[in-house]
Amino acid sequence: MRSQKDLNIGMIGYGFMARAHSNAYRRVNNFFDLAYRPNLKAVCARDEGKLKAFADTWGYASTETDWRKLIARDDIDAIDICVPNDLHHPIALAAARAGKMILCEKPLSRNAAEGLEMCEAVEKAGVLNTVWYNYRRVPAVTLAKNLVAEGRLGRIFHYRANFLQDWTISPDLPQGGTGLWRLDAAAAGSGVTGDLLAHCIDTAIWINGPITSVTAMTETFIKERKHTLTGQMQKVGIDDACAFLARFANGALAIFESTRYARGHKALYTFEINGEHASIAWDLENLHRLKYFDHADESIVRGWRDIHVSDGDQPYMDKWWVPGLQIGYEHSFVHQVADFLEAAAKGENAGPTFRDALETTRVCDAVLASAASGQWVTLG
Ligand SMILES: NC(=O)c1ccc[n+]([C@@H]2O[C@H](COP(=O)([O-])OP(=O)(O)OC[C@H]3O[C@@H](n4cnc5c(N)ncnc54)[C@H](O)[C@@H]3O)[C@@H](O)[C@H]2O)c1
Repeated sequence: MRSQKDLNIGMIGYGFMARAHSNAYRRVNNFFDLAYRPNLKAVCARDEGKLKAFADTWGYASTETDWRKLIARDDIDAIDICVPNDLHHPIALAAARAGKMILCEKPLSRNAAEGLEMCEAVEKAGVLNTVWYNYRRVPAVTLAKNLVAEGRLGRIFHYRANFLQDWTISPDLPQGGTGLWRLDAAAAGSGVTGDLLAHCIDTAIWINGPITSVTAMTETFIKERKHTLTGQMQKVGIDDACAFLARFANGALAIFESTRYARGHKALYTFEINGEHASIAWDLENLHRLKYFDHADESIVRGWRDIHVSDGDQPYMDKWWVPGLQIGYEHSFVHQVADFLEAAAKGENAGPTFRDALETTRVCDAVLASAASGQWVTLG
């Protein structure tokens, strides 16, 4: 085991992602041999009572109720941004100015203009940075990336991805405030495009290269909802559903769809890639498996293989149990922390960086612009 140096974490937020990241920080050194050890130094949110309970549950040494005070502390090395999207920009700018490493939740920002300022801030300050597009680190997804990079699929013709949910169908669901900020355009930036399709776009660019043009349609099925903070019925500004076509620089065609109105689906993120020699398919609800079809197989046994990604030769799996025993959702965050700490020890970034994530936000902006104009949008 390597000698270890503490990396003092300042967590902002105590919701869903703060739990997923805290779990990853606590477990990572038990499974990965790293030069850094995350030290849960402080957690920040506005409700002091809930904050104390969260700090006790996860073992944070101290609390702050103002994120500016957390960033000003000398005993914090890295700021982890786990708050609604509208806060990513001001917190990242302040953290970069203070010389802190930054781990920011996705999407990078509400739009590319904010995202560009965030990139420039971290690059100017020379601070290490990453964005939590964690699905890259699901072993089956990393394996898909590796198979494509090795050229096993040959020329890529098609990429298709879906992210389907059903939790906003009721018109009685309010918008805004704790838990429902995703329905409030001012806090979220956009609806399913920035929240769900951003994941699909990040994975797609990572595996298949840049997207060059898009044409999209969006719909807001429920036009008005009561706002939790004002109590008034207010116009809904987010996209409830979005479907778009895209072209990749490598000539592949793509189709992406996301909605929160697909009754029966909770988090059905799927992608399929069709190449000249082989195809790949993955499904978040069965995340430890990768479907693979290889046309080179002898015809009498040719068919879709269902690979149980649990062998030590497969990405990250040598760090866990024995072949045949699978891992799950939370491990993608452990892997991202492990890669971040491994690179940080060498003074390097582990992708996706802010600059990588800006590319995804640029595609999201292009999708929304296309939906508004009804025209194809080309990405420069
Ligand atoms: N990587 C993923 O798969 C994934 C999944 C879910 C959410 N996210 C992203 O993570 C971020 C947080 O989402 P979530 O699901 O954890 O939300 P959440 O609603 O569960 O938690 C948000 C937290 O932010 C805190 N907060 C709000 N305003 C604050 C302020 N001014 N100061 C300090 N704390 C404040 C709230 O108290 C709450 O603890 C979002 O950007 C979201 O898009 C990513």
